Amino acid sequence: TWTTESIVDEQVAAVRRQVGSKRAICGLSGGVDSAVAAALVHKAIGTQLTCVYVDHGLMRKGETEQVEKDFVAATGVQLKVVDASERFLSALAGASDPEQKRKIIGREFIRVFEQAQAELVAEAGAAGEDVAFLVQGTLYPDVVESGGGTGAANIKSHHNVGGLPEDLEFQLVEPLRQLFKDEVRMVGQELGLPEEIVQRQPFPGPGLGIRIIGEVTRERLDLLREADVIAREELTAAGLDREIWQCPVVLLGDVRSVGVQGDGRTYGHPVVLRPVSSEDAMTADWSRLPYDVLARISTRITNEVPGVNRVALDITSKPPGTIEWE
Ligand code: XMP
Repeated sequence: TWTTESIVDEQVAAVRRQVGSKRAICGLSGGVDSAVAAALVHKAIGTQLTCVYVDHGLMRKGETEQVEKDFVAATGVQLKVVDASERFLSALAGASDPEQKRKIIGREFIRVFEQAQAELVAEAGAAGEDVAFLVQGTLYPDVVESGGGTGAANIKSHHNVGGLPEDLEFQLVEPLRQLFKDEVRMVGQELGLPEEIVQRQPFPGPGLGIRIIGEVTRERLDLLREADVIAREELTAAGLDREIWQCPVVLLGDVRSVGVQGDGRTYGHPVVLRPVSSEDAMTADWSRLPYDVLARISTRITNEVPGVNRVALDITSKPPGTIEWE
């Protein structure tokens, strides 16, 4: 029989055997999987690990800080943060096609990450050490899905799957390869990661970039960030975080509608709430959220986010709708 403790011990020993006295790099996305993988490898090899976090400017409110402060505080890991938001926004300028946006974000991400990686390798090289390993938070379902080649994985180009450079000189360290999500959460807990990180709902790699319909601009990102944090606060306050799989908030950047707010007419953007319940994200049902929670979210968003004058609810299951709008 296995326990969470025995998984941790086993994987720590395996990582030590694999990496030896060399160095490893781990990309943090802000998500559960990479955080737990990093924490586990850090427990195994300590300062031989450096984490890299690319801030693409498409994160939700407070997420970058969560990685920079809470994750580092909980683990003591060495972290390199690359602020690449300018670069991503310029690359995205003018793009409104979903697949085009995903490709741009994926491409820029790999470039920035490779550059950071190269810098770390050079720094370590100057210190006479070898960086030979790349840590990835691959889970068992990821292994099955990318090997299985079923159609579902190809509906959208997930930017963190199969996006590795071809001339990869690193060996992969994948300590979560045999685990399912709930087990990964337990391992994270065992490793002392904060609840907010361990219980985090899924968030797509391309971030808010695929939750703005139309072009991604700084102004639209700011609007969406404000609306999104209100929805998250109210869902948390209502104790619904564990009941729903996730609740994307989508800004219809290319749509405007007439409203009346304060003393006058407004011509603003709608946001759409997309609360879903799911076991594995392959299929999903729209969550029947209590009306009073929906009402609070709607009132707060329209009162507190200037520029948003309408809140709509997406009541489509998956299929036919995907969870994200792009
Ligand atoms: P869809 O929209 O395909 O989403 O129904 C299924 C689940 O995957 C998440 N998602 C992504 N996660 N990179 C990710 O890491 C991506 O490019 C990506 N696209 C969608 C989505 O949030 C949902 O949980």
